[in-house]
Amino acid sequence: MKISFITLFPEFIKSYIQTGLLGRAQLNNIFEFEVYNIRDNAEGNYKSVDDTVYGGGDGALIQYAPLKKTLDQIELASDSAVIYLSPQGRPLDSALINELKNKKHLVLVSGRYAGIDQRFITRHVHIEVSIGDYVLSGGELPSLVLVECLSRQCDGVLGNQKSSKEDSFVNNFLEAPQFTKPVEIDGMTVPQVLTSGDHKKIEVWKKNMSVLMTLSKREDLIASHDHINWPDVLSFYNSLSEEDKNLMQIHHLLEKIKKYSL
Ligand SMILES: C[S@@+](CC[C@H](N)C(=O)[O-])C[C@H]1O[C@@H](n2cnc3c(N)ncnc32)[C@H](O)[C@@H]1O
Repeated sequence: MKISFITLFPEFIKSYIQTGLLGRAQLNNIFEFEVYNIRDNAEGNYKSVDDTVYGGGDGALIQYAPLKKTLDQIELASDSAVIYLSPQGRPLDSALINELKNKKHLVLVSGRYAGIDQRFITRHVHIEVSIGDYVLSGGELPSLVLVECLSRQCDGVLGNQKSSKEDSFVNNFLEAPQFTKPVEIDGMTVPQVLTSGDHKKIEVWKKNMSVLMTLSKREDLIASHDHINWPDVLSFYNSLSEEDKNLMQIHHLLEKIKKYSL
């Protein structure tokens, strides 16, 4: 997949994409990154790219012309998607990542100041994407958040693909709690099934714990699942020791599970 960044802070983007998973993905030819500086397409001695907002309002907007000239430098194909990172956009979630991961080319436009001229959005942007209901000072972090989420879902980026398939939100559930060595620390012991070596039991445990974690922390996600076998979840919950329920902070869930089991 080719990713073209349009930004006023190319160094910020370049330093991040060279490190960690994204750097490796680039070396392995899974991603091809290119970074375009909007200021390279500014005119005048001061290389200004912004101006005041018509009708008043604080701050300045990035103008249409330097954005358009920058976009014109990029080779677009029929399936290229031009994305403007914006607090007004579609919330970034797994469903959107799944749609985007099938594209061959993404152009990520980062705004700054008070944003960008609406006419660039109207004429050239296919999707506006938001990383949350808050306002940052620029689209650079959101564009990197998008690329990093995407990279975790692309084959060959993570060393062990299985680990991303169990991540929270991949199936609209949260991931089951995880533990590492030692088995016992500060009076807390790893649930016995996880050290049993019984893979079938471990699978069942993880699946049920994933439902319980979602019910506990993000009950809003439960509504999107109509195939949860609640009587099974109830008997799994009842089979847990009080120690395990306390360890995973799910001792309060009985009434909720009963409500869903009705
Ligand atoms: C200060 S913001 C402009 C916000 C704009 N005045 C508004 O209220 O919609 C500057 C830039 O940061 C980026 N940005 C800020 N918050 C964002 C968010 N939650 N998601 C995606 N991009 C964001 C956008 O690219 C935006 O053009």
